[in-house]
Formats: sequence, C-alpha cells, structure tokens
Amino acid sequence: MKNTLYKHALAVCLAVFPAVAPTGLGGYSASSDVGQEKTQDGSPPAPGMSVSAKLSRAPYLQNIRQDGVTILWRTAAPEKAAVFVERADSAGHEGLFTVPEAEAFTEHEITVRGLLPGTKYRYCVTAPDGGVRGGGTFRTAPDPGGSAFNFVVWGDNQSSPDKFSKISAEMAALQPAFAVGVGDYTDNGSDPARWGRELFSPGGEFLGSVPSFLAAGNHDYGLKGGEWDFSPSGPGAREFRAAFRNPGGNRFYYSFDYGNSHFIVLDPNENRSFASFDVPPQSAQYDWLVRDLESADSRGAGYIFVFLHQPPFSTSWDDTYYDGEELLRRHLVPLLEKYKVSLVFSGHAHVYERGALNGVAYVITGGAGGALDYAQHKRWEHVSVVLREHHFMQISVNGGSLLAEARGIDGNILDSFTLKKRNSAPESR
Ligand SMILES: [Fe+2]
Repeated sequence: MKNTLYKHALAVCLAVFPAVAPTGLGGYSASSDVGQEKTQDGSPPAPGMSVSAKLSRAPYLQNIRQDGVTILWRTAAPEKAAVFVERADSAGHEGLFTVPEAEAFTEHEITVRGLLPGTKYRYCVTAPDGGVRGGGTFRTAPDPGGSAFNFVVWGDNQSSPDKFSKISAEMAALQPAFAVGVGDYTDNGSDPARWGRELFSPGGEFLGSVPSFLAAGNHDYGLKGGEWDFSPSGPGAREFRAAFRNPGGNRFYYSFDYGNSHFIVLDPNENRSFASFDVPPQSAQYDWLVRDLESADSRGAGYIFVFLHQPPFSTSWDDTYYDGEELLRRHLVPLLEKYKVSLVFSGHAHVYERGALNGVAYVITGGAGGALDYAQHKRWEHVSVVLREHHFMQISVNGGSLLAEARGIDGNILDSFTLKKRNSAPESR
C-alpha cells in the first residue's frame, strides 16, 4: 500500500469514526464510492445500510476474544485494504490500531490483537482509494470471572431474508456481547450466492456489530448433485470454513470461555447421514468433548452452554414422525447430565420448545425465519412450552443468576425462565 494512499484511507476513517452508529454501518454513507443499493450477488442491502459498489460482503466480526477480534469481508475485485480500530471512548484517536493488508485480496481477513479486555472499540475498514468498506463497534471479552453480560441465539433463518432482517435488527438493538447461531443460515450451503441473500445481506448490520459464533446445520453443509453432503470437503463445508472463524481453527466443533461461563459448539452432521446425526463415542469430536467438559468442570464454570443444530428431544416436525435425535439421546445426553451442563440450544425444528430433564435445560430455537413446523408428534413429558412463532433468544448472565427470554420478530417477550448456576446450594426454606 503506497504511503500516500494509506494516509488518505486513515484520514477517511478518522473522519467517519465519530459517526459510527452503535449498531453498525449507519455512519458510513458519505464515502465517494458508496451508494449503489445492491450487493454484488444482486440481493438488497440491509435496511438503512449503504453498500459500496465494490463490496460483495460487508465487514463482519468473528472470534471475539479478550485481546482481539477477527474481521472478514469480501470485495468484487482484489484490493489492498486496512482496518483501523480505536477505543470507542477515544476523542483524540490515541492508541489507534492500524492493520494494513500485505497484498490484494477479494476474501479479506484481518485479526486485530493487543486490545484491552472488556473494552468497547469502534472499527473502520477502508480501501487505499479512501473508499470505506464498513465498520461498527464491538466489545472485547472480559477478564475471566463474574462480570455480567448478555448474548443472543438464533437458528434456522434459511430462505427468509425479510424475517431475518427484522430479527437480526432486534438482536443488534439489544447490543449483546456476542451471538451464537444454531445452524441452517441458508437453505443450501453449497450455493455461495445463497449465503449472501439469506444471511450476510439481511444480517449485515447485525453481523458487523455483534461478533458471532456459528454451529453448522444440515442445510449449511448443503447438497451436492441433489444429495446431502456432510463430508468436511463438500461444497457447503468449504463455504462455511471460508466464511467463519472460531477458537477451533478449521474444526466445526469448538469451545470458549466468556465471563464466568463456558460455551461449547458441536457438530452432529460431521461425516453423518440424515438418519444418523450423532456425536459418536470413540470419535475425535466425542473425545474432545469429554476432555473439554472435564476441563470446564474442574475450572468451576458457573454455567456451561452447549449449541448444536439437531435437538436430542423435539415434539415438532412437519414431515414424517420425528422426536429428536435418538443417537444424541443415547450418546450425548449422558455426558450433558454427568457434567451438569446448564442449557442446551438446538434448532432444526422450526419452533420454540423448552424443558428440563435430569438437571439439564433444553431449548429449541429454530425460529429465525424458516417456515414454521406445525405438526406435533411425541409429547415429551419434560417439554413444558411449545410456541410456533418466529423468534430469537436473549440470555442475560449476572454472576449466579441467568434470565433467558424468547423474543418475537418485533422484540416482544414470548417466554422467559431463570436458571441458577451450576453447583448452586439448594435454596433454604
Ligand atoms: Fe432448518
């Protein structure tokens, strides 16, 4: 990057930094090459967002950590870009982080390191010609311990950009620390254009201001020649791996700590078929999970959350008989109970369901846009609430207490429950 162009890019970012809206890209419409109201894949931009003619995927946040974050975006043509990051409370741009790319890319990825824990930052992405590619704000993960935080969970937004546009705007408005997706972000993950139309375009502002961690759904692996392809080298898996970053590197299962809690993302699709979603004993994923649960337990995690697309228990499915995944009930549920997992989130069935069994709470939150499931099959006795409404979840953790809310497409609260942290003393009477 030539020095003069770099200085120009920096000047542009410094000029727009104060205008960064809390929820995303709203302050960036003044750039000279911003204004074409279509993304490169032909889909409309998120409401209120101006999309650069050169931009095919607006900047989005991944793998938030105590000391950094990874920012990805795509441009229609190769270009050298740069990311500028500074504290959101900075008035004089002191301590500005500048990370220029070494060469020209279309698929951009910059990891910013050296940030302070639990601190709010704003970021700006520019090209050397001064074109602003996007920006927003984020908060780094806090030091380990009991600090209060909230996160959101969504699932199964597939094929419904209009509904996901509304739901993702509601999620962003809550300013969560991060979001976790439980899969099926597109109806066919092997089609690159669908990722744009169904996830990145309607969720652009949300993904640019809320760091996300994603679990893979069967539809994200997608189809190859009309057949489901759950191999790690399949076209959908390649798209997923190219688009997302997490602490597991290239794995689709991983974990991280946040505050006093531990988060585990699983992938029961890996090398399976539609009839055998599982985390089978003796698999690398199962062995890793046992070690990870033992570690979290020994470190005294206040809450342990598990996220996976397919639910162990379900009452709903608009097709042939379905009551959840029998293999997950046989192989995974005993581990969840043994290690006192607090709360398990799934999708797959396009409903909201919740219940608790043997000390483990289960939620199906497959309601972020996909067509709802109305047929009800097995009535699991422990499933106490079933709602056939589009929705997402907000979870607020404050030391030893947790509030979970199912919120509708307009942000209204549909259901809520509380949960005490692991190994809490029984309430005295
Ligand atoms: Fe789905």
